[in-house]
Amino acid sequence: MNCFLMGATGGLGRALANELARNQHRLYLVGRDAETLGALSAELREEHGVDVDYVTADLADFDPDQLAENAVGTMGGLDAVIIASGLGDPDDNGSLDDSGVRRLLEVNMNGPVRLLNALSAHLADRPDTAVVVGIGSVASVRGRGQNMAYAGAKSGLDTYFEALRHRLDGTACRVQFYRAGFMRTPMFGDRKSILPVARPERVAEVIVRNLSRRSGTRYVPAWWVFPAIVLRWMPWAAFRRLSV
Ligand SMILES: NC(=O)c1ccc[n+]([C@@H]2O[C@H](COP(=O)([O-])OP(=O)(O)OC[C@H]3O[C@@H](n4cnc5c(N)ncnc54)[C@H](OP(=O)(O)O)[C@@H]3O)[C@@H](O)[C@H]2O)c1
Repeated sequence: MNCFLMGATGGLGRALANELARNQHRLYLVGRDAETLGALSAELREEHGVDVDYVTADLADFDPDQLAENAVGTMGGLDAVIIASGLGDPDDNGSLDDSGVRRLLEVNMNGPVRLLNALSAHLADRPDTAVVVGIGSVASVRGRGQNMAYAGAKSGLDTYFEALRHRLDGTACRVQFYRAGFMRTPMFGDRKSILPVARPERVAEVIVRNLSRRSGTRYVPAWWVFPAIVLRWMPWAAFRRLSV
C-alpha cells in the first residue's frame, strides 16, 4: 500500500511508521521537523528495505491542496491516509490565550478536516480499495474541564469522520476512526492513571492489522468501550465530581 502518515514523529505515529514498514508498505511521512523525519526515514529504509518519502507540514499553518497534490504526485496515488497527529495542552482548562486555543483547534480538527477535504475526491475515485484512518480520543466521550478545546476538537473530528464515511459509502474507500485510550507517548507524559496505559506499538499493530477491515468507529485498546459507556451515561451529579 502507498501510505500517507501525518504525525509520523509522534509516539503513536512513529510506532505506526515502524509497523507499516515492517509490513512492507511504502511510506509518505509528514511531520513538522525535517531532521527527525529524515532520520526516521533512513532508519525505516535500512531496517525494512521499503521506499520512504517525507515532507514537512504544520497543521496550524499549511496549504492542504498543495500537500495533497505533492503526496499524490510523489506516490502515484494513495491507498491509505492515516492522521496520527494531535496536540494537548496542560493549560487547556480555560487559562489558555486565544493563540493557544486556536492551535489546539487547528491541529486536532481544522487541519485534519481541511487535509481530508483536499484528498476526498482522490480517495473517492480510487479504482482499488483505499482506507482513511483517523485517531480520536476517549476524551471526546464526555467534556471535562481539564481539556476543553482538545475534547471539543476531537468530538468534531469524530463527527467529521462519520460524515466522511457517509460520503464515501459505496466507493472503494473505507473510513476507520479510533477513539484512542491512554497511551504511553510524549502526549501522555509520565502521568499516573488508575486505568492501564497502552504501549503505542501495541495500538499501532491493531490499527495496521485492521487496515483491510471494514469501515467503522472503534475504541483502541478495545476494552475502553466499557469505561466509555459508564462515563457516557454517568448522571451529571456523579460526573461533575470526577477529577480524572
Ligand atoms: N497519548 C494518549 O494518551 C492519547 C490518548 C487519546 C488520544 N490520543 C491521540 O493519539 C494521537 C497520537 O498522539 P500521541 O500520543 O502519539 O502524541 P505525541 O507523541 O505528542 O505525537 C503527536 C504528533 O502530532 C504532531 N503535531 C503536533 N502539532 C502539530 C502541528 N501543528 N502540525 C503537524 N503535526 C503536529 C507531533 O509532531 P511533532 O513531533 O513535530 O511535535 C507528533 O508527531 C493523537 O491524535 C492524540 O490526540 C493520544
